[in-house]
Amino acid sequence: MTARLRLYRKSAFTSPSIIFMLIAGALFLALLLPGTASATISVASEQVKRGSATPGMDNIVMQRLVLKTDAGTAQWTSIKLSEFGTSDATPTIESVKIYKETNGVGDIQFSGTADTSITAAPVTFSTEETVFTFSAAQTLSETPQTFYIVYHINPLANTSGGQTVGSRLADESYIIADSTVEAFTNLQSREITLASTPHATGANPSPFASTTNLCQTCHAVHLAPDFGPEFNLTGSDRTRRILKQPYFESTSVVNYYPSDTYNALCLSCHDGTGSFVDIKSKYNSTNPDIEYPGHQTSHESTHTVGYKPPNAEPFKYFSGTKMPCMACHDIHTSNRRSHKMLSDKLYEYAVGQGWEDPNANGRIDAENDEICLVCHRRSDETSRTVSIVFGYELTLLSKPEHDEGISACTDASCHGDPHELNINQ
Ligand code: HEC
Ligand code: HEC
Ligand code: HEC
Ligand code: HEC
Repeated sequence: MTARLRLYRKSAFTSPSIIFMLIAGALFLALLLPGTASATISVASEQVKRGSATPGMDNIVMQRLVLKTDAGTAQWTSIKLSEFGTSDATPTIESVKIYKETNGVGDIQFSGTADTSITAAPVTFSTEETVFTFSAAQTLSETPQTFYIVYHINPLANTSGGQTVGSRLADESYIIADSTVEAFTNLQSREITLASTPHATGANPSPFASTTNLCQTCHAVHLAPDFGPEFNLTGSDRTRRILKQPYFESTSVVNYYPSDTYNALCLSCHDGTGSFVDIKSKYNSTNPDIEYPGHQTSHESTHTVGYKPPNAEPFKYFSGTKMPCMACHDIHTSNRRSHKMLSDKLYEYAVGQGWEDPNANGRIDAENDEICLVCHRRSDETSRTVSIVFGYELTLLSKPEHDEGISACTDASCHGDPHELNINQ
């Protein structure tokens, strides 16, 4: 009896032909349904962005995901994300993009240009849980691959009341693929607070008058860095203005350092990271048609009076100086609502010199080339006999197109952008 049973078991489970059939069947299934048979996908998440985000901010990496299989390959076609945070994602988040890390071997720094967007189109949340489909299925394998969940905040996002945004994968069903996904719960980003822009903008002219305290984005109340050793400054100049990063207009710094150094505070955001407006690349333009990137000076200054003159003799601004940002802008006050925070003091100085504001509306606005003529005196102007700015006397060269009444100085065929001047026509 026992012998027969043993014999029976042996023939059923160890017969070479049956083993062969089992293996063949498994192979057949694996070929028929690629991925489904064996691969299990595992997902790891790291929180990237911390702190706050401002309206219009782009390329914010919320989460970095690393996906791999235990064996074989799997096809990943889409990801589901859930709203996370107190604000309503539908108007707050302008777009959600998933990027694949293609920047270089071992380099896991996100780059909006070097890494590859794999979402079909910039889409955003339509419901609390939204599926974002890829332009092509992603093949996952045993080699871990890195992906980024990247947000663009709506430029008109509501910043009142400290609302927050975030991204979350609630569980494994949020990874939509042809294979099993290892169980997880709540892989999520940090909760990012929506904050107003650090200074006035056209739409929001004077945040400093409100209850917000935005001074801290640029000034450190305690432990301000000491710029003395780096810039060879002494006494109270070293930490004057208790700025978090350098911003200088003094000739002793501006003449001897690149603008990336003395405009560092402004360029820390205006390089396309803290603000979507990238002035840094304009200041550093290498386009051969751009003769004056950074609104450069063309010779040494000679005047020590006027609007923002050099400190005093013997200090002069040298030729080739890229102008400090606040020669034109003033981030503290824009009570007159001048265009793009152009300095109120500049307006007051020009009017004080007899400049006739073309539309007499009490501020520098975008019309009538006011943004240029507030400094550059027309050659046929009679009401204002002198305009000295930054140590330079500014008159427009007598040229037919200048004399016949100026218009559209910033047109692409004329001088173009104020931060990268073209004078080759
Ligand atoms: C902490 C980041 C940050 C810093 C530092 C910063 N900015 Fe800005 N700035 C922004 C943001 C954000 C906006 C709004 C536009 C946007 O969302 O990109 C803005 C807008 C502006 C505007 C346009 C205003 C308008 O009416 O449209 C000007 C001009 C400007 N900044 C100048 C400066 C200058 C000059 C400095 C240095 C003193 C500076 N910024 C420093 C983030 C910053
Ligand atoms: C976007 C950056 C930024 C923000 C925000 C900001 N400041 Fe400033 N602040 C500067 C810079 C740059 C200077 C240096 C100006 C200069 O060199 O003339 C400065 C200088 C000052 C000075 C010294 C003025 C002087 O003549 O030296 C005071 C006082 C000051 N800030 C107060 C404030 C207060 C108060 C707030 C908030 C209500 C604020 N700042 C917000 C960038 C900023
Ligand atoms: C010679 C004057 C001048 C200097 C110097 C200058 N700007 Fe401007 N900036 C302007 C003018 C004028 C505009 C408005 C341009 C327009 O609307 O056509 C402007 C616009 C801007 C804007 C808004 C752009 C937009 O698309 O909304 C930002 C941000 C800005 N400047 C930042 C800076 C920073 C940062 C620096 C220093 C690195 C700087 N500016 C230096 C004159 C200047
Ligand atoms: C804050 C005052 C100010 C404003 C506003 C301003 N500029 Fe200038 N600009 C200067 C200074 C200072 C120079 C250097 C002058 C020099 O080296 O002789 C300069 C130089 C130039 C030059 C080079 C030619 C030259 O004189 O060397 C051109 C072109 C120019 N600006 C065009 C413009 C245009 C276009 C605008 C408006 C978008 C504008 N500027 C707004 C102050 C200003």
